[in-house]
Parts: sequence; C-alpha cells; structure tokens
Amino acid sequence: MSEEKDALPTGYQLSAMDPVYRECPWEKLKPLREADPVHKDEQLNRYFLTRGREVSELIKNRKLNADPKKANPGSFSQTLYGNNSKELSILMMDDPEHGRLRGLVLQAFNQRAVNAMLPKIEKIANELADDIEAEQDEFDFIQLFGSPLPTTVMAELLGINAADRRDFRRWSLGCMQALNPFRSEEQTALYEESTTVLADYLAREVDKRRDNPGDDLISGLAGAEEEGEKATTEELVLLIRLLLIAGNSTTTDMISSGVVQFLKNPEQLEKLKADPSLIENALDEILRIEPPVAQVLRSAHEDMEVADKQVKAGDTLHMSLFGVHFDPEMNAQPEAFDITREKINHFAFGGGAHYCLGAALGKAQGRIALPMLFERFPNLAFAPDKKPQHKIAPAFNGYGEIWLVK
Ligand code: HEM
Repeated sequence: MSEEKDALPTGYQLSAMDPVYRECPWEKLKPLREADPVHKDEQLNRYFLTRGREVSELIKNRKLNADPKKANPGSFSQTLYGNNSKELSILMMDDPEHGRLRGLVLQAFNQRAVNAMLPKIEKIANELADDIEAEQDEFDFIQLFGSPLPTTVMAELLGINAADRRDFRRWSLGCMQALNPFRSEEQTALYEESTTVLADYLAREVDKRRDNPGDDLISGLAGAEEEGEKATTEELVLLIRLLLIAGNSTTTDMISSGVVQFLKNPEQLEKLKADPSLIENALDEILRIEPPVAQVLRSAHEDMEVADKQVKAGDTLHMSLFGVHFDPEMNAQPEAFDITREKINHFAFGGGAHYCLGAALGKAQGRIALPMLFERFPNLAFAPDKKPQHKIAPAFNGYGEIWLVK
C-alpha cells in the first residue's frame, strides 16, 4: 500500500503547472481519490481533498478560516496569498469584518440589480457577436467575445463612463493577476499599474457618488449602511476591485468552456437547440465539468479529524472542485458532458460564508450568450489544427485561446 501511495501524484503534479493535470485533471485525481482522498501533500504543505463525502461538509463549515494570515507559516494558503490578502478584500476575511462588508454588497448587488442588467447584457452580447460577424472567418473566441463580455457588463453595472471603458478593461484584466503567483514580468507590470491607477480612479468615482449618487452599483455600495455605518472609501475600492478579480475571468471561463464542450459534444448542442429550457441545466453541467475556480482553500480553525487524517489548527485544506465534481458518488459517469443529468452536484460557486456573490450575474451572462452564439453562428466549429489550450493559472481553470471558424 505504501508503494502504491508513493506512486500517487502530489505537489505541483496536482496543479495547472503540470501539463497532464492541466488538460485532464480528473485522470490524475481518480487514483488519488480512491487511495488517499485526504492527501497530505508534503511538497506544497497542504491537505488535498478530492472526495465529495468530506468536501460537501467542509465547504459549508463557517468556522474554517479564509484569512491566510491565520494559516500556519509555510502552509500553502500562507505562501500563496499571505502577502496580498488585504487586496482580496472579503474573499480573504473572516467574521466579523467579513459579515459586515458582505452585508453591504448584498444590499447593493442583489437579484433586482441583476434583473435590471438583463437587457444591457443582451445588447452587449449582440454587439460583440456583430464584431465576430465583421471579423474574418477564423477568430479567437476569447479575444472577441469571452473576455470582453464580462468586463463590459461589469463596467456598465458599476457605471463607468464610456470614455474610460478602454482603460478600465485593461486595468480589470491586470487586477486578475492578483491571484496568479506565477505572473510574468509583463503581467507583473500590468498588475502593478492596475492596482495603483485603478485604486485612484475608483476612489475618485466613489467620492463623486457619495455627493451625487446615481443608479449604478458604485452609488449603491457608497450609500449602503451596515449596523448604521457606511464603508470607507478604501474598503469600497478593495471591494470593487475584488468584484473585478472574482467576476471577470470566471465568467469568461464558464462561457468559453461552454462553447468548447458543446462543440466537442454536438449531440448535446442538438438537445439544447431542440429544448432551449435545458440551458439552466447546461450551465450547471458546464460548471461541474469545467469549474472556473479549481479549488476552495481554507485553514483549520482547530485540530480536527478529516477522514483518516489528524489535521492541526492552521493547516491548509485544499478542496479540489475537480476532485469532487468527478467523484462518482457525487455524479454518475462524471466524465460525460450531459446537459440532461437529473441532479448535478457541484460547488463551482463555493459554499457557506463565502458563497459567490456574483453567481446570478455570471449565470445570466451564460444564459444569454451561449444560445445566442449558436443561433447566430450555426456553423461554428474549431479552427482546423488549433486545439483549444488551457491557460496556466494555478487557481483557475479555463482556456487561453479558442480558435474557431464561423
Ligand atoms: C461563473 C462565474 C463565477 C464563478 C464560477 C465564481 C466562483 C466563485 C467561487 C468558487 C467563490 C468562493 C471562493 C471561496 O470560497 O474561497 C466565489 C466568491 C466570490 N465571487 Fe464569484 N464566481 C463567478 C462569478 C462572479 C461574478 C460575476 C462576481 C461579481 C460580479 C463574483 C464575485 C464574487 C465575490 C465578491 C466573491 C467573494 C464572496 C465572499 O468572500 O463572501 N463572482 N466565486
């Protein structure tokens, strides 16, 4: 048994840095889940969890710590995010600060705000499809549609001036590098520019809205009160930046993975065309089979037993969403993309205290964009000899380029 365990993947082999894992994570995770579902990864100093039985409980556990500063020195959470936890705002906070700021966002950014955006999302998506129409036959879907859709929607939601949109989109893309510890020199330069310039820009926008509120999200956040108190400008700048970091690439990845899955599985596309109401299930199936966020990280708040392991307070629990979504106890025949599954078990939006605040907005974009694209471009196909490539992003799953012909 020990020899078998020695042959199991660990460390960087369980990350997007490994080419096999990047393209086919479930292949690496299957033997690990079967032999060692709560795996002590000595190389990266974390417990790597791949089984639904444990993760479906732990992911909802509100006592676990999200703040990496509370993790043990040298542990995975600390190494990865210990230095930039402040700029990731509520994502890396625990109660009571987390609850107070999350409450403010919930007041301003609710289902009503998302519903009000629906006609605008439809307009933006159609304008981007016009750009595809104007383009030559072969095009990169991410550049022309997958990436600009959520960043434009977010700019609209926040109430960013049309004249500033181009810069805003650039800074939004730069901010996402906050979650990439392996960024290149060029990415680091863009990240640094984005964090400083965007912070100044947003601080000015927040202050303007305090005096002259409009009906946009920045005004809503600036006016919201929790326990009789408004958030400071600095808190709001970090919160808005987090919305960009958390909301843009994830939505790009969900829609782009949807295109890839439907083109790889044309019989599923036929089912969607025959019954458009299947889009709801289809979005969940896309999120299950290609979760845009690859894991949820927490550290133990106290010594605890997880399956057969004694986890110490401060140890990192790395809950692998690929691990859980492909666990046959959670979803039968997990490797099949099947939009008619009766019950799709996934945690693509996390769970518990940090459950995604933008789930409804992200899904709304997928619900509008995917059927519209396949209707407007019925001959959409992969460009010959250009296989979609997964990007190298440790915390995320998605594609860097998807070359299509229309
Ligand atoms: C399909 C698209 C999306 C996916 C798959 C996704 C996924 C996630 C996941 C897994 C978490 C939990 C992380 C954790 O617990 O550590 C999360 C949190 C969060 N998401 Fe999303 N997200 C999506 C879209 C969005 C959008 C569009 C926005 C904003 C407009 C957004 C804003 C947030 C925020 C602010 C948090 C932190 C919540 C908290 O800490 O209380 N997300 N998201």
